[in-house]
Amino acid sequence: MPYNVGVIGTGYVGLVTGTCFAESGNNVLCIDIDADKVQRMKQGEVPIYEPGLEVLFQRNIRENRLEFSTNLEKAVTSCSIFFLCLPTPPSEDGSADLQHVLKVAKDIGELLHKHDIREHVVLVDKSTVPVGTSEKVRETVAAVAPNADFSIVSNPEFLKEGFAVDDFMKPDRVVVGTSNEKSAEIMRDLYEPFTRNGNPIFVLNEKSAEVCKYAANAHLAMRISFMNELANYCETVGANIDDVRYAIGSDSRIGKKFLYAGVGYGGSCFPKDVRALLHSAKDAGVELKVVQAVEEANAHQKSSFLEKIRAYLAESNGKTVAVWGLAFKPNTDDTREAPAFTLIDGLLADGCTVQAYDPEAFEGTQVRFGDKITYASDMYAACKNADVLVIVTEWSEFRNPDFAKIEAGLNNKVIFDGRNVFSLDKMADKGYRYHSIGRPAIIPEVE
Ligand SMILES: NC(=O)c1ccc[n+]([C@@H]2O[C@H](COP(=O)([O-])OP(=O)(O)OC[C@H]3O[C@@H](n4cnc5c(N)ncnc54)[C@H](O)[C@@H]3O)[C@@H](O)[C@H]2O)c1
Repeated sequence: MPYNVGVIGTGYVGLVTGTCFAESGNNVLCIDIDADKVQRMKQGEVPIYEPGLEVLFQRNIRENRLEFSTNLEKAVTSCSIFFLCLPTPPSEDGSADLQHVLKVAKDIGELLHKHDIREHVVLVDKSTVPVGTSEKVRETVAAVAPNADFSIVSNPEFLKEGFAVDDFMKPDRVVVGTSNEKSAEIMRDLYEPFTRNGNPIFVLNEKSAEVCKYAANAHLAMRISFMNELANYCETVGANIDDVRYAIGSDSRIGKKFLYAGVGYGGSCFPKDVRALLHSAKDAGVELKVVQAVEEANAHQKSSFLEKIRAYLAESNGKTVAVWGLAFKPNTDDTREAPAFTLIDGLLADGCTVQAYDPEAFEGTQVRFGDKITYASDMYAACKNADVLVIVTEWSEFRNPDFAKIEAGLNNKVIFDGRNVFSLDKMADKGYRYHSIGRPAIIPEVE
């Protein structure tokens, strides 16, 4: 039997969740407070860049299983399961700001009360939240809907931007936190079509489920920070981090993924989730020393890349910088906490001219930098009269460029590569001055 599912918040998580649940046959009503966004979706426009989403989005709208509205009341009177896919941005002190989650919980509670809805409803928290949030949501709803029959489920989302549809359709695992057997059954039923490959659905208590998400992100961030620190060490002692990565990644206890050194992690999840976990642990009187170090190493990594470029610009009297890649990683238009932004901030503060290019992420960049930087029409245009090319995001199209076109634009054959996109041999052959991460710098001899 299809469920009537309300998805509240249609960002990267909500829109993918809603579309994929519609694709598996459910009737989905997506609610957002952003009227403009809802209008665009009603007209058939996908408001985010996420590979594979468009096809599913269009099909399910056409087949009347996917609808959009700003009207939460419509969802409460027609759905029995609500997925809260709301932002949980960092507060000033680093803790997760729960205002959106708790506001929607209260609104749903009030509407349940207003319509005297007595059948069982399930509120599923998909946002990334600190331990104890399920309890807060339960108290919030109970306070305004004393007669309602509801349960709260924590169902953290593990999708990766850029692979969100694939990850949702074939999750490595689904985590369901609930002590209510009826809700657990509904969740198993909803996720069954996505776990036919045998991947597990773990039903845990709410608190364990809440901890899972922060634990996963902190662990992944830890691998990145570990490799970044090791890269700096390799660079100093003359080793090559990529060779080290191949060698240690072949150990099945370590594995190959998330071992790439770079300019530091960014995005809408790792930075805020690491900080929120630290804050939540501090509140509980527990010190997470490793996680604290992960955060510090990341901040250092972002600034040390900038310092290297600054040193070169000072030495060469350069002032114009081409930047390839603005999104915090490839295959997304998301620029939240993007390392490119830290870099551009620093360059602008030094009075540099920045000529930027990204295949998808101009919208967020324009909001942040307006006309303070130039937005190039393609990757080669960004290089025109630039003193140095800096690669910040490893989009596929940057991997095998036409070097003649780069050279036609650049004043000097100098590349700072924050993602180790090119091999050292190639850059040495081509006569570039080439600085990457955790590998020896190539500095051609002056004739
Ligand atoms: N983006 C990711 O890769 C990812 C992955 C896993 C988990 N998460 C978590 O999922 C949550 C959502 O993340 P996101 O990236 O989808 O956020 P997002 O900012 O892209 O989208 C949130 C949406 O919620 C809407 N919204 C805000 N208040 C609302 C309200 N009162 N009623 C209805 N809609 C409202 C916003 O307009 C926006 O469209 C966060 O907690 C995040 O940490 C994100």
